[in-house]
Amino acid sequence: MTADILEAADRSSPSRDLLQLTVVEIRDETRDIKTFVFCPEGGVPAYSAGQSMTLKLELGGETLFRTFSLASAPDASGTLAMTIKAHAKGRATRWLHDELKVGAKLEARSPKGRFTIEGRRTDRLALISAGSGASPLMAMLRHLATMAPDTDIHWLHAARMPGDVLFAQELAALQARMPRLRVSILVSRPEPGWFGFSGRLGRRLVSVALPDFGRREVFCCGPAGFMEEARLIHAAEGGARDMFHVEHFGAIVPASPPPAPVDAPAQGYAVTFGDKQFTAQSGETLLQAATRQTIVIPCGCASGMCGTCRVSLVEGSVDMQHDGGISPEEEAQGYILACSSRPRSDVTIAL
Ligand code: FES
Repeated sequence: MTADILEAADRSSPSRDLLQLTVVEIRDETRDIKTFVFCPEGGVPAYSAGQSMTLKLELGGETLFRTFSLASAPDASGTLAMTIKAHAKGRATRWLHDELKVGAKLEARSPKGRFTIEGRRTDRLALISAGSGASPLMAMLRHLATMAPDTDIHWLHAARMPGDVLFAQELAALQARMPRLRVSILVSRPEPGWFGFSGRLGRRLVSVALPDFGRREVFCCGPAGFMEEARLIHAAEGGARDMFHVEHFGAIVPASPPPAPVDAPAQGYAVTFGDKQFTAQSGETLLQAATRQTIVIPCGCASGMCGTCRVSLVEGSVDMQHDGGISPEEEAQGYILACSSRPRSDVTIAL
C-alpha cells in the first residue's frame, strides 16, 4: 500500500544511510498495478514481512519521498519487491509506472514499520485486504509459506472487478502448499461467470465467508474506511482490540497542535533544518511547524508509527511521544520522528 508523502523540495539536505537499489524486474499484475523488483547494493537489509520502505525519487528537478509496503518476504531471493498501484493523480506512482525502467538506479531508506507478522500472538490468522493493500499481506504469506506452512490462515481480499484481483495465481499455488490456507475473494463489480463473493465488506458477508473472524488475529490493509469497517466487524464478533492490526498510511495533513505546554515560550522555538530556519509554535510538532512553512519533511502516517519522518537531532532537545516508529537503537544514535517530536529548546535537525 502507498503512503502519500509530502514532497521534499530541499535537494541540498544531506541524506544518510540510504540503500542503493537497481531495478531488476518490472511485472504487470493488473491493469493499474505493477510489481517492481529491486536489487540492493551490498545485499538485502534485515527486515520483517509486512514492513514498508521509503523510496527517494528524482522527478523533474524535485526530490520526492514515497513509502510503499514491501511485497517480498525477507527470506526470498536477494531482492526487494514492491507491488504498487498507479493513482490517477499520483505523480510519483504514475512516474514509477510510466518512466521507471529495468536497470534504473534509486535510493531508499531501510525497511521499517510495526505492521509485521513477526509480532503475531497466535497462529490462527485472518488477512484482510483491499486493492493494493494485499501487498504487505502477501509478504507475510510468502514468509509463512516458507517458515510456518501449517499456519491456520484465512485471507479475505476485496477488489473492484475479477480482473483486479492481485496475486490470484500465486494464491492458488500457495493453497496447494499450505494445507490450512483458505482464500475468499470479494469483488464489488462481479462479471458474468464470477463465482466468488460479491458486494462490499459487511458483517453478513463476513459471517458467511469467515465465520470465526472474531476468534482470529487480524492483519488488515486497505483504504481507511475499509479497515475501519473490518475493525468494527471484528469487535462486534468478539475480537479483542489488540488482536487487530492495521497498516496506516496516508495521513498527510498533520493534526492541529495540542495545547501548549505551560513552560513553552509564547514565541515558540527556532528550528534549523538544512539551510532553512523556521519557528515551531508552542505545542507544534516539528512536522507541523515545517508543513506550516511549506518546508517539507518526508511523512507517511503522521502519527509516530511508520518511521518515514525520521530525522537527526543535531542540536537541542525535544519531547517525543511516538507509537513504535523508531527503535531504541535509532534514538540512541540521535534520530527522532518529526511527526511526534515537540521542541523543548531551539533545535537543529537534518535528514
Ligand atoms: S510519519 Fe510515520 S512516524 Fe512520522
